[in-house]
Amino acid sequence: MSSSRFITLEGGDGSGKSTQAKRLVAALKTHGIDALGTREPGGSPGAEDIRHLVLNGDPGRWDALTETLLMFAARNDHVERTIKPALAAKRWVICDRFTDSTYAYQGAGHGLARETIRRMEALVLGDFRPDLTLIFDLPVEQGLARTKGRGKEMRFESFDTDFHERMRDCYLAIARKHPERCIVLDAAADEDTLAEAVWNMIAKRFKLG
Ligand code: TYD
Repeated sequence: MSSSRFITLEGGDGSGKSTQAKRLVAALKTHGIDALGTREPGGSPGAEDIRHLVLNGDPGRWDALTETLLMFAARNDHVERTIKPALAAKRWVICDRFTDSTYAYQGAGHGLARETIRRMEALVLGDFRPDLTLIFDLPVEQGLARTKGRGKEMRFESFDTDFHERMRDCYLAIARKHPERCIVLDAAADEDTLAEAVWNMIAKRFKLG
């Protein structure tokens, strides 16, 4: 049995990463690997309560700093109560969004200083980081077209195209800065093609049969 791994999936709204996260968990299970699928904000009872606070209501409900503190409060609970215990039990953890989302949304999107986020990251996570991050990259217009009419928590999706462009650039910059951790995928591909690309990457990276 391979040792546990922590894999995060990132991307803009409508990039299809949530579907791919579920498919990856299923594929790992098929290969005899015990995997836990989880998400942010959320993933533990306390963090799900915070998720409700942060994702619902008026777009101006929280300023960028408060919103980021809430994200990291949720993240701390999630990491300590869900992610680390699962990894300690030798399970793989597949997480739909993690700290890179904070750099993209609260940082690039809402303009909170990178350094402020970095300090919160250091405080909450120490040197705990994902083993691998898959970034699902898609032209903004395409992503927004895909999310139209999805009746879900929408506080974040009411932001304009420019906001999403800045986020996309931020993700690509993160990938360039951390090539050992990040892989960028072309999320315009159809679901099955993308799932196959994800699996091939995981199998190669972690030497799975
Ligand atoms: P969700 O409904 O899970 O959407 P998606 O399918 O796009 O992941 O909503 C999560 C929202 O929270 C999403 O719009 C991104 C946002 N978010 C942040 O702004 N900062 C963060 O740190 C995280 C984890 C998520």
